[in-house]
Amino acid sequence: MKQKLYDKFAELFGAADDAHFYFAPGRVNLIGEHTDYNGGHVFPCALTLGTYGVARKREDRLMHFYSCNLEDIGVVEASLDDLTNKDSYDWANYPLGVVWTFSEKGYKLENGFDMVIWGNIPNGAGLSSSASLEVLTGVILTDLYGITDLSPIDLALFGQYSENNFNGCNCGIMDQFTVAVGKKDNAIFLDTNTLEYEYAPIQLEDSKIIITNSNVKHSLVTSEYNVRRQECADALSDLQKELPISSLGELTPEKFEEAKHLIRDEVRLKRAKHAVYENQRTITAVKALKEGDIKKFGELMNQSHVSLRDDYEVSCKEIDLLVELSWNTPGVIGSRITGGGFGGCTVSIVKNEAVDEFIKNVGEAYADKFGYEAEFYVVNIGGGASRLDV
Ligand code: GLA
Repeated sequence: MKQKLYDKFAELFGAADDAHFYFAPGRVNLIGEHTDYNGGHVFPCALTLGTYGVARKREDRLMHFYSCNLEDIGVVEASLDDLTNKDSYDWANYPLGVVWTFSEKGYKLENGFDMVIWGNIPNGAGLSSSASLEVLTGVILTDLYGITDLSPIDLALFGQYSENNFNGCNCGIMDQFTVAVGKKDNAIFLDTNTLEYEYAPIQLEDSKIIITNSNVKHSLVTSEYNVRRQECADALSDLQKELPISSLGELTPEKFEEAKHLIRDEVRLKRAKHAVYENQRTITAVKALKEGDIKKFGELMNQSHVSLRDDYEVSCKEIDLLVELSWNTPGVIGSRITGGGFGGCTVSIVKNEAVDEFIKNVGEAYADKFGYEAEFYVVNIGGGASRLDV
């Protein structure tokens, strides 16, 4: 892969000897969905799937972006003198948004750069291909321009800022955070209210984590993602009439039950209920995992799905079928939708000896019903974004 990217870089931009090589992972969330913009907990891990990039500084103020995944689009050219989102830039609005964010935050670049990327995260599958690209760009910029006072967490926040303000998705911090601080063989237990986090080793001796891609593409910019976020904000302001809280994540289920009469609107009530209970489920699940109780972890994953399907309403019929097929397969410890929703992927924990059967049964029944294939990936948990040629 490295050679292929260097060759392409050299072909497009001239000898690549002084260009550098970078990687940023995708992520899968094990539990804690739609809690990150509600001040709750999440429990994601970085994947070994991700986005690779080769980049080099230029002498002038131009930036060139090329994706080996989207060759038809060709080289996208933009200038540091016009950092605005343009439809014609297509995917390059993601790295460009990060350049814009650097500039907004006081890191104005004097020179442009050339960048060639290739990724193996399926696009629009809820595995954070966009966050991967954002944090990759952040790592490239800090490295190329010798910026030493930004931490991986800063780069995660810059990526989120860019996505919120340049690319129109009001996402939380989970994805960029995971991409930036991921650690091999560990999930990240993150409190999105304080950004305090701890790594939790994932040592599943007798089972595997499996991602199933429904191949129903989702776009969080055009989906109801931003609507959900607003519904939660509205529920919070209803509660704030009597409660001194600044996020739904501050409420235990018990406190929520006492106060929920303040939310009159039924839809808002369901959304808030999900946010509060999902946060509690995440805390309980991580505790169960630490105690080696994987069965309980799986049950909580299943409950998470039901809540996302019925109360948060971010699932769809294809994903519900995948999850139900998984639940009905012997050897499946837990299964749920993962990521932003409205399509995308499920995540399941499956006993080693049941993996082949799982892929066969779920795959066949899914293709029978919908006429196209699901895809399966056995998860390997990787590290965070970095320069690789050091
Ligand atoms: C998307 C967003 C995240 C998070 C998840 C849902 O992936 O980018 O911030 O809200 O959806 O948990």
